[in-house]
Amino acid sequence: MVAGSHLQDVLAEFDSHMHRGLIYEITFGVLRHWFSLNELLDRTLDQPRRLNNTLTKCALLAGIYQLAHMKTPSYAVVSESVRVVRQLKQRWATGLVNATLRNCSLDHRPSSASAVHEAPRWLIQALQSEHPDQWSTLLRTLRTRAPLALRVNARRGDVDAYVAKFGSGLSLRTGFDSYSFTLAKPLPRSELPAHSERWVTIQDETSQRAISILDPRPHDRVLDACAAPGIKSLQLAERHPDIELVSIDVDASASAWLDQECTRLGVAANVSSGDATTLDWWDGEMFDRILLDAPCSGTGTLRRHPDIKIHRRPADVDRVARLQSELLRNLWRTLKPGGTLLYTTCSILERENQCVVEAFLECTSSAESAPLSVAEGCSRTVGQLVLPQEGGGDGFYFCLLTKTRD
Ligand SMILES: C[S@@+](CC[C@H](N)C(=O)[O-])C[C@H]1O[C@@H](n2cnc3c(N)ncnc32)[C@H](O)[C@@H]1O
Repeated sequence: MVAGSHLQDVLAEFDSHMHRGLIYEITFGVLRHWFSLNELLDRTLDQPRRLNNTLTKCALLAGIYQLAHMKTPSYAVVSESVRVVRQLKQRWATGLVNATLRNCSLDHRPSSASAVHEAPRWLIQALQSEHPDQWSTLLRTLRTRAPLALRVNARRGDVDAYVAKFGSGLSLRTGFDSYSFTLAKPLPRSELPAHSERWVTIQDETSQRAISILDPRPHDRVLDACAAPGIKSLQLAERHPDIELVSIDVDASASAWLDQECTRLGVAANVSSGDATTLDWWDGEMFDRILLDAPCSGTGTLRRHPDIKIHRRPADVDRVARLQSELLRNLWRTLKPGGTLLYTTCSILERENQCVVEAFLECTSSAESAPLSVAEGCSRTVGQLVLPQEGGGDGFYFCLLTKTRD
């Protein structure tokens, strides 16, 4: 994260590490509590501004997290943290780490709004203005741990079939349809029964709804326009083997991976790399259904990606909103009259959601928003927003648009 990598890519390297649980706990914990831990660290250091060494700072934050949230004995935290900085070749910092962790006063209550809500100021302000009655609960939910939600591969069976075959010891809650469920106690991927045989895929519960909303009919030509890493393309292919599926993504290596995955699983999808703001990838044949799962700020998924709240900036939201508008305008040209496009994001910010769709509707006479109803959703001026649910799904926005026939 600090070096500019994605959290899940960095952590994937430790998936089979003997201390995987501890590594995940400390990494997610530090990121979830980033703002209050930094406040605590700054109060403890004599001259916080002089600590500009990232490795040492991270070791200190990990140490403070263990003291404050894991109740690890302080002698163990201090000696391990000193050992870590030594291993990281930061010998100069051993005294500093030792003294800082010993002097850190855990009685301190967070004082700044960012430390209280564990979020950057710009995000707190945006949520306060867009959700005046819910912003504080919303931020609290975003600090919790996301549950482990899965979907059963419809080609293999449903939740009942999966449980009958593999899940005798699993405690689970069934989801919104017969393929969706959430585990009461999360398991590492490697311990999920029949995961490697693709009986189940890890997928957030709200995210799973997109395909039900899109609801393609047999023989429809369907475009998944921002397909990588391919969770929804595979879900589409599993649930609707009789559609003609075209999946594109601007990320060439992720598209190549998805193509291989489809071949490996025997899924009939035409996968290629393509920029959906252009028509270079298009063969000219119109689509009956389009899924535009647009690139976005990811603010509805902060529980799973707490690094987002540290590196995302307001200017990123403006930039991605411009891209979303461009994608929507361009893809509309490839939709058949009478066809349907589902615009969806995992953002909870209106600039990326109804603002994008409203602006599009204003300048597109052939577009109409169609009714849709998601049980946990709340209606916006157009479309529905599902807020992150404690113990439930992530935050998503859905808007169905139909193209008039004349
Ligand atoms: C929210 S993710 C899609 C997740 C995917 N639908 C799934 O369920 O696995 C957004 C995707 O949009 C892709 N993207 C961004 N700009 C694009 C563009 N101009 N054309 C096509 N894809 C684009 C990104 O590479 C990223 O994979």
